[in-house]
Amino acid sequence: MFDEMEKKVSRREVITGAGKLAVGAAGIALVSGVGTKLLSKAEAKETPLPWPYEKLDPNEVAELAYTEWYKLYCGAAVISSIFTPLKKKIGEPYASFPVDSFIWMHGGVVGWGTMCGTETGAALVANLIAGQGVFKDGERISNEVIQWYCDTDLPIYVPKKPKITAEIPKSKSGSPLCHVSVGKWMKIADKGFWTPERKDRCARLTANIAAHTVKLLNDWKDGKFKSDLKLPAMSYAITAQHDCTDCHGTKVPEVNTKGNPAK
Ligand code: HEC
Repeated sequence: MFDEMEKKVSRREVITGAGKLAVGAAGIALVSGVGTKLLSKAEAKETPLPWPYEKLDPNEVAELAYTEWYKLYCGAAVISSIFTPLKKKIGEPYASFPVDSFIWMHGGVVGWGTMCGTETGAALVANLIAGQGVFKDGERISNEVIQWYCDTDLPIYVPKKPKITAEIPKSKSGSPLCHVSVGKWMKIADKGFWTPERKDRCARLTANIAAHTVKLLNDWKDGKFKSDLKLPAMSYAITAQHDCTDCHGTKVPEVNTKGNPAK
């Protein structure tokens, strides 16, 4: 699949003379490259990356994310809650962005319990706006959002018009995974997955992640965004989540470090 993409890219590069692409650096860079640089002349009105940004009110974004969750679920709701006000302020490319095509982010990608959709949605937004590429600002913002998701007792957000008026318990996931995050909450709250309370918990959490993403984007816009957080793969010499012992118990396997760049 990857080889095929690479072939396609180089063939079209020749045809369109689109110039050098950072092919192979990372899947995401490749995909965004294909999406933006290799369009035909007729489609070429597209806004170049990174996309324009104007500061947004995190509270308004949170409120919208909460209500959008009930239509779009976590990932697409984060995207919609940020792109809808940007559509009002800026217009294109936000006006024609196909938000609905990201509903699949729900449940950690169609219910597989991997990355919580809020983080995937936030990463998409941050990378389109703050720049894409390995550990560019878009990725640094995504990295910060994921860390915050793991470390914070969520949901904090209380909607103006809550669908569930009872108090929704908070829980700390310690993990970016939907499965772990939802599972720990279900245990603390003593509620099943299909209950209205679990849904409202996810809707409120979505509001928190959308608002946090916007706070970081606002800082970035002001030139105040700073991040010292490393990517986990830099710390462990393997792609990983920090909570090694949650899955491995006390016997965390030794990482094969052959070929790692010297520290
Ligand atoms: C979400 C669960 C999870 C987390 C968190 C996690 N791992 Fe793993 N890891 C696994 C599973 C499952 C496997 C494959 C089966 C196994 O080896 O236990 C694996 C495999 C590995 C392997 C491959 C070698 C082997 O013996 O299987 C290494 C090395 C490893 N993990 C290291 C780590 C380190 C270091 C961390 C923390 C920085 C970590 N893992 C965090 C689930 C996890």
